[in-house]
Amino acid sequence: MKSYSELLQTINKKISETTYGSYPNELYEPISYMMSLGGKRLRPVLTLMACDMFGKDVEKALNAALAVEVFHNFTLVHDDIMDNAPLRRGKETVYKKWNMPVAILAGDLMMIKATDFLCETESSDIKSLIFLFNKTAREVCEGQQIDMNFEVNEKVTHEEYIQMICLKTAVLLGASLQLGAMIAEASKEASEHIYEFGKNIGIAFQIQDDILDSFGDGSVTGKQVGGDISSNKKTLLLIELLESAHKDDKKFLLELFKEQDQNIKITEVLKLYDKYQIRDFAESKKQTYLDIAMKHLHAIGLEKAKTEILEKTALDLMERMS
Ligand code: IPE
Ligand code: IPE
Ligand code: MG
Ligand code: MG
Ligand code: MG
Repeated sequence: MKSYSELLQTINKKISETTYGSYPNELYEPISYMMSLGGKRLRPVLTLMACDMFGKDVEKALNAALAVEVFHNFTLVHDDIMDNAPLRRGKETVYKKWNMPVAILAGDLMMIKATDFLCETESSDIKSLIFLFNKTAREVCEGQQIDMNFEVNEKVTHEEYIQMICLKTAVLLGASLQLGAMIAEASKEASEHIYEFGKNIGIAFQIQDDILDSFGDGSVTGKQVGGDISSNKKTLLLIELLESAHKDDKKFLLELFKEQDQNIKITEVLKLYDKYQIRDFAESKKQTYLDIAMKHLHAIGLEKAKTEILEKTALDLMERMS
């Protein structure tokens, strides 16, 4: 089995050799910019890892891996517009560096390029790969719209939140793994378990993302700290605070939603997170989904030597700082 860093090298080499087009420059330059900013490359590594685990040469899954990373980067270009985010991977976001129309169109083209790359996969069942990819892309859009709806929705339940992050984030981790498994011609049952493993890791991954948005170090995450608080995002942290805050604190919190001074708003919400030990709550929820994920991984029934790399990757993600 190849390690995360070996697979990372493989996908980074592929990305560095990939070109997207040249004219007009305003369309293609932002794509190269975004793709060159790096990031963890988690999703393509998962595609390669699954292919490796089910016994096929990772080269076979390289185009699909590129497709999921280009797709993921497209979602980030548009997500940063939706979230008013100034920073991504420590650099200016595309819509800030250029402008909104450039970011919209560059994102659109990345989505198209992603399916092009996927179609280059040599597989006896390319149709199933495309169906899975498109289903996932549709779900990500649904999740992103629900995320936006929740910004202006005061009452969001834990279940609604989990369903939303499942769509916007978790299904793509599941699909990244399942594509690798399908390319390696794993059994239907095994590829479903690997999907569920990825989906549950993805839920925990987004909870960690929410934790980092409030408690992370901006120089490590490469994103603005407190952005979720600024935009009244109904993260697990805020939903739990809304439920546990006593009457006066809750009234104050609802007033803070309208606060114009972002420094005051962020500082005061963080104080309430501390008062009600909201971070501990989120940490324990992460563990719940990690446990479900591990059950699916073990249900595949492969020998330990094959599954331990995915186990280690999952555990590392729970503690990630960026
Ligand atoms: C960010 O994804 C978007 C979320 C789903 C939370 P990553 O944290 O994987 O971002 P990069 O690709 O490593 O920058
Ligand atoms: C992003 O969720 C999910 C997608 C991009 C589809 P976030 O909005 O929390 O991601 P970050 O924190 O900006 O990376
Ligand atoms: Mg978002
Ligand atoms: Mg965002
Ligand atoms: Mg976030």
